[in-house]
Amino acid sequence: MKALVLAGGKGTRLRPLTHTSAKQLVPVANKPVLYYGLEALRDAGITSVGIIIGDTGQEVRDAVGDGSRFGLEVTYIPQDAPLGLAHCVLIAKEFLAEEPFVMYLGDNFLVGGISDLVDAFRRADHDAQILLTRVAEPQFYGVAELGSGGEIIRLEEKPEHPRSDLAIVGVYIFSPAIHDAVKAITPSARGELEITDAITWLIDNGFRVHSHMVSGYWKDTGRLQDILECNRIVLEQVEPEVNGSVDGLSEVTGRVIIEQGAVVENSVLRGPIVVGANTKITSAYLGPFTSIGSDCVVANAEIEYSIVLDGSSVVGVSRLARSLIGRNVEVTSAAGTPNTHELMVGDHSKIKVRA
Ligand code: DAU
Repeated sequence: MKALVLAGGKGTRLRPLTHTSAKQLVPVANKPVLYYGLEALRDAGITSVGIIIGDTGQEVRDAVGDGSRFGLEVTYIPQDAPLGLAHCVLIAKEFLAEEPFVMYLGDNFLVGGISDLVDAFRRADHDAQILLTRVAEPQFYGVAELGSGGEIIRLEEKPEHPRSDLAIVGVYIFSPAIHDAVKAITPSARGELEITDAITWLIDNGFRVHSHMVSGYWKDTGRLQDILECNRIVLEQVEPEVNGSVDGLSEVTGRVIIEQGAVVENSVLRGPIVVGANTKITSAYLGPFTSIGSDCVVANAEIEYSIVLDGSSVVGVSRLARSLIGRNVEVTSAAGTPNTHELMVGDHSKIKVRA
């Protein structure tokens, strides 16, 4: 079995970060979301992985390389424009050949791995296996309607009026029958070749499509609140480890990872927290569910339930919460009078200040 990982697309909901970076590389507990998926594929015994890349392809190539670090053999498949999930299958035909494959959306985060799902597909005689989970806002996802016997009656992509709260999770397993389906469908109203339409084609043409309820935690990390929530879930399970230095004036409690070369001085850290390599935390408070990247500075500041990416500094600011700070960002206090906020922010940024 092979795998097709989708790491192209646009990532409009995570702008401005995704103006310059791939949304699949936004870190959760200081590790890109994409890596969790690649590790899940490897753990399921899959080695041959095709990765669809778009505008941010070079960044994905730099991060993943030839895949050997993950125990994988990676082939990159460039996509000229994000023309849809089914379009990705279409352009990967040569790579996938006549083998069944797992299609994994690179911005999806699934706790518990996929080994059981892959084993179940191998044992059964299905043409497609989809995963479903109950969500609060089904209108943002592909939605499945099931019959009384659990059979799939209908699949709809982001319906205005969802017929159920069962969202389609971004991990699918297909037999080669999917290649006929993606050839047969036409673009949707939003101009994309939808994988939901291809799966509907399989059902309509008598192929066996099986659905499975996700037992563990799942999130599509496309939105800020979702990536912060994933960060919380992962941090809750990390093993504490101090590889940097913590001075005697500091108080570190709970699950806290302090990476190599990081320095914590005169600060209070209430885990779960990860502090990246060579980051300096001085006279600061870090609260639960916070990931600080490498080469950052946090001084005279308070941060909780947030993610700060590499090379950024937060100085003289209290208190940041529910925030995602990009790379090489400076957040400092504005001194003097009048009492103003001074901002230089990128396009599509979102700033919430206490008035
Ligand atoms: O996350 C689950 C949802 O994923 C499903 O419930 C939906 O049925 C499915 O259509 C998909 O919806 P999204 O709107 O979240 O898909 P998104 O555009 O975010 O793309 C998912 C991943 O695939 C993302 O890593 C970007 C990549 N992608 C996307 C498109 C459209 C590509 O590589 N190429 C593309 O053309």
